[in-house]
Amino acid sequence: MTEPSLAGKSARYEAIEDTFLAELDESLRPRGSDTLYDLVDELGLADGAIVLDAGCGKGHHAIELARRFDVGVIGIDPAPIHLDKAAEAIAAAESTTPGISARINLAPGRVERLPLEDGSVDVVWCRDVLGAVEDLDAAYSEFARVLRPKGQAIIYQSGLAPDLTEQEARRFRALDGPVTSADPGRIDAAITASGLHVDRRFSVGLEWAEHLAETNGKGPRRLLHLARLLRQPEHYIERFGRWEYDVMVADCYWHLWRLMGKLDEKVYLLTKPTDIRPEVSPVTASHSHLCLGGSIALGVDHAQ
Ligand SMILES: C[S@@+](CC[C@H](N)C(=O)[O-])C[C@H]1O[C@@H](n2cnc3c(N)ncnc32)[C@H](O)[C@@H]1O
Repeated sequence: MTEPSLAGKSARYEAIEDTFLAELDESLRPRGSDTLYDLVDELGLADGAIVLDAGCGKGHHAIELARRFDVGVIGIDPAPIHLDKAAEAIAAAESTTPGISARINLAPGRVERLPLEDGSVDVVWCRDVLGAVEDLDAAYSEFARVLRPKGQAIIYQSGLAPDLTEQEARRFRALDGPVTSADPGRIDAAITASGLHVDRRFSVGLEWAEHLAETNGKGPRRLLHLARLLRQPEHYIERFGRWEYDVMVADCYWHLWRLMGKLDEKVYLLTKPTDIRPEVSPVTASHSHLCLGGSIALGVDHAQ
């Protein structure tokens, strides 16, 4: 069969264009980041199971986990401001869910050195944190150490997709931390080294981005924000500062890349096999007040 001529191709496209556009206006019914709670549900946790929210930020998910499931939650984060906000949010949640605050404990700490005993938690929940963590090996080996045998981890982490250019990856660093921790090969290597078994690994970025665009228009709105930021940089720099401007630009790009499939955001469901013995660590609950040195990543919430 011969290739259609340019005129033939144009006519063919014209014939389907309106129908195609109309179909693109129809939702594919994307699921959002609540998918992570469905995963917890599937674990069928026993009452009173302990869930670690590693990098709990302002406590939103620690509260939601305690609300949805009959579990105890430990929220750990290195940023005092986030822990303070989390404590406020937990206190406020008492009015709608009496008794919830007794089931959530907060502590300062970092995923690379968790202030918890070996084998002391049933589930590790770590959402949108590891992009900021340089030492992924330490983070995953800490998850393996604190999980009880057969305990499970639900991790949501952004990786860089091959289409992202070097220059774009540098912007990612400005926003989110070390580019190496978003390298899918590094992520897989760190999981393998920890001894945790990968039960499931699936990409969620495009679907979650679609969901967000359909429910609150966030991604497309960030495109409009980017146009404004790029057209009048001086205005925004004078109002808010250079560094703040750069962070805002980088965050807009992040949402765009996500919608363009230039990021590979994955969810990992991991299990601690019964035959790995956690290495004996000097970190125990009695050392829970860790020195909080080092850089703390920005609390920009990507998944929402
Ligand atoms: C984008 S926020 C996500 C917060 C929360 N997990 C969520 O999904 O809403 C990233 C959080 O990771 C925390 N963080 C940064 N570096 C960390 C580290 N090394 N260990 C634990 N948490 C860290 C930050 O303080 C911040 O609260």
